[in-house]
Amino acid sequence: MAFTLKINGTPHEVDVDGDIPLLWVLRDVLGMTGTKFGCGQGLCGACTVHVDGQAVRSCQTPVDSVGDSAITTIEAIGQAPQGAALQKAWLELEVVQCGYCQSGQIMSAAALLKDTPKPTDDDIDAAMSGNVCRCGTYQRIRAAIKHAAG
Ligand code: FES
Repeated sequence: MAFTLKINGTPHEVDVDGDIPLLWVLRDVLGMTGTKFGCGQGLCGACTVHVDGQAVRSCQTPVDSVGDSAITTIEAIGQAPQGAALQKAWLELEVVQCGYCQSGQIMSAAALLKDTPKPTDDDIDAAMSGNVCRCGTYQRIRAAIKHAAG
C-alpha cells in the first residue's frame, strides 16, 4: 500500500504493508538509521521519534496510523531549538557511553523541553522513565537536560 509520510519536513513515498511499524520504514525502507531498534516491544525507548511533537515508540506505531502527521527523527531534531540545545549539552557533558540508546533519549528529552521548558527532577524522571540505558548514563542525561534548559 502506498503512503506519503511527512518526515523532517519532507514528503516520502513508501509502498509497504500498513501494519509495518514506522521504525522499519524509517530504517529499512528510507535508510534513516539514527532511530534505533532495541526491544521491539515498546519497553526501551530506543526507537523514539516525534509524531506531531509527541514522543512515540516507532516500533509500536503502524505506518498506517500516522496519516499526514509530522514525523521528526533524530536526523532533524537539531533543527528545533530544544533539540539543538540538547545535542550541545550532550556533547559538553559527555553523556554518551556506548551511545545506542541516546537518539531515543534525546528525542524524549526534546519532547519534554518543548512542553516544559524548565523541568523539575520529577518532570525529567517522568518523561524519561521509558528510556532505558544499559550503560547507566541516567545522571548525566538528567544533568544535560537541565543544562539545555538553561
Ligand atoms: Fe521500540 Fe524498544 S525498540 S521501545
